[in-house]
Amino acid sequence: MQSKPNITEFNTETLDLINRIINRYPEGRQKSALLPVLHIAQAENSGWLSSETMNYVASLLDIQPIEVYEVASFYSMFNLQPVGNCVIEVCHTGPCWLNGADEILAHFESRLGIKVGETTPDGKFTIKTVECLAACGNAPVIQVGTEYHEKLTTQKADELLSKWQSENKISHTNPYL
Ligand code: FES
Repeated sequence: MQSKPNITEFNTETLDLINRIINRYPEGRQKSALLPVLHIAQAENSGWLSSETMNYVASLLDIQPIEVYEVASFYSMFNLQPVGNCVIEVCHTGPCWLNGADEILAHFESRLGIKVGETTPDGKFTIKTVECLAACGNAPVIQVGTEYHEKLTTQKADELLSKWQSENKISHTNPYL
């Protein structure tokens, strides 16, 4: 597994972006920018939020670290442990489960040789399960970064894995750049 990144300072471009987001909100309401800033922080920190990075976010927004921890730990899109370059999020809520999410999950586990919640030894892939991705009509569904893949079959999963392997897929890109 690759070394664990731990950003506690953003570059000027990222700080400018964050300040533009903070300035969308009334003075004293900078906490409203927390979700977008956490997305940016996670993307900049190789896909996860260390406590040091969350403390840095708290200092940027002039709020208490606990206010950042409670939001980051609530939403499944935030990772509080290091992850691989490509995080495969498999929806396992009712409609996806009824349409074969378990088979898709088992297929990814078998192909990558890891269990849900784990990362491949080369640091390329992590598998997670998540709750409803709001695309139930096209179940089963997975999310990889900003991409949705719907009506998934094991054949489609194989095609995606081959593509991601060959292009060294990185799923944690900054959605605001
Ligand atoms: S249950 Fe999977 S997208 Fe809604």
